[in-house]
Amino acid sequence: MYNFIYEIPTKVYFGENQLQSNLGSEVKKYGNRVLLVYGGGTIKKIDLYQKIIEELQSFNIETYEFSEIEPNPRHTSINEAAKICREKDIEVILGVGGGSVIDSCKIISAGKYYDGDIWDFVIKKAEIKKALPIITVLTLAATGSEMNTTSVISNMETSEKKGIKSPLTLPKVSFLDPTITYSVSKYQTACGSCDILAHILETYFSRNKGLYMLDKVMEGEMKNVIKYSKIAYNEPENYDARANLMWASSWAINGFTRMDRQPNIWICHLLEHQLSAFYDITHGLGLAILIPRYLKYALNENNVDTYYNFGVNVWNIDSKLPKMEVAIKSIEYLENLFYKDLELTDNLSKLNINDQHFKEMADRICENGIVEGFIDIDKEDVVKIFKKCL
Ligand code: NZQ
Ligand code: ZN
Repeated sequence: MYNFIYEIPTKVYFGENQLQSNLGSEVKKYGNRVLLVYGGGTIKKIDLYQKIIEELQSFNIETYEFSEIEPNPRHTSINEAAKICREKDIEVILGVGGGSVIDSCKIISAGKYYDGDIWDFVIKKAEIKKALPIITVLTLAATGSEMNTTSVISNMETSEKKGIKSPLTLPKVSFLDPTITYSVSKYQTACGSCDILAHILETYFSRNKGLYMLDKVMEGEMKNVIKYSKIAYNEPENYDARANLMWASSWAINGFTRMDRQPNIWICHLLEHQLSAFYDITHGLGLAILIPRYLKYALNENNVDTYYNFGVNVWNIDSKLPKMEVAIKSIEYLENLFYKDLELTDNLSKLNINDQHFKEMADRICENGIVEGFIDIDKEDVVKIFKKCL
């Protein structure tokens, strides 16, 4: 087990109607000139925009706006927003949206203090040394960006998508109101749920064993996502389902279950980020296609115990069955969840993706040689896993 430091000081307002008076007073603590950042306009359709503007006005907060942050956010949009921060001397960033908006806000906040191209941060040509405070209003349960230090940014000119972490960009305050997620489409609910599950699963399927206590927490978290993803998918306005997914999204990837088993490379995430970089697909969908194939590919006599525990403790598969049988069944159950219950596309060919770029993607993933994750993978393994997804 590895030593670790755990520090996630994001203040969370969880539940319905928490925005009122609290949003304005929290923003005011950090400054008087705010940049409101959002995506393609959903917040206007669900009347959230108006509530936020009224709240900011009632606290006399000077508000500037940047909208049109794309899903799989582009570095070019972030550059534009960062420029506004510099020109208007913005003091606080308020991100209202899903992971794409919140990830963007993190880099926008650092861009306030950097005149160059923010892509420099992503490729480590420049270091984040200072960042504006960030407040978020989460509208989609998925990435956990509302309570972590990660941003995942795309560069469409070079077909790259990369993650970057800085403790300076951890949101100061996040508002998590499950009712705001009632409007999330079936498709995004399914993708978001797969993403949450993937964050837990990629930690659980780790070669470095950590605290038993955290294995049990993760099994509970996975059961929670399996149960409530199906309910939210069928009953979008079920408060309990939306609330359980929302809180799970934050806790799946805020470091709590992960720190004791570092380094633990998330192989499916590495592969998926290549897929969305080349084909601009939804992150959760890419994961839903990759995870079952990867788990099958990685399964062997030495690591079957992890699959067995997953099968018995998460899927309630008969513990008396042979371990390999439980392992294979556990992957089948996962496939049923993704492709039957949540009705997600089950292969890449249906998304018009062929093997054209697989080798290039593998070269990028293995640019420093073998990747040591739950299993070690080299370029050939990567191509084989991608091919199994066709
Ligand atoms: O653009 P708007 O109008 O906001 O619409 C969005 C978008 O079209 C819509 N949406 C959001 N809230 C809604 C809603 N529609 C109806 N009602 C609502 N309440 O959903 C669409 C997808 O939004 P997006 O923010 O892109 O989704 P998600 O939260 O899944 O974020 C995905 C991005 O986060 C990255 C992914 O790679 C991807 O770029 N990730 C970030 C991580 C992190 N920060 O730790 C980790 C993840 O593994 C992931 O890589
Ligand atoms: Zn993810």
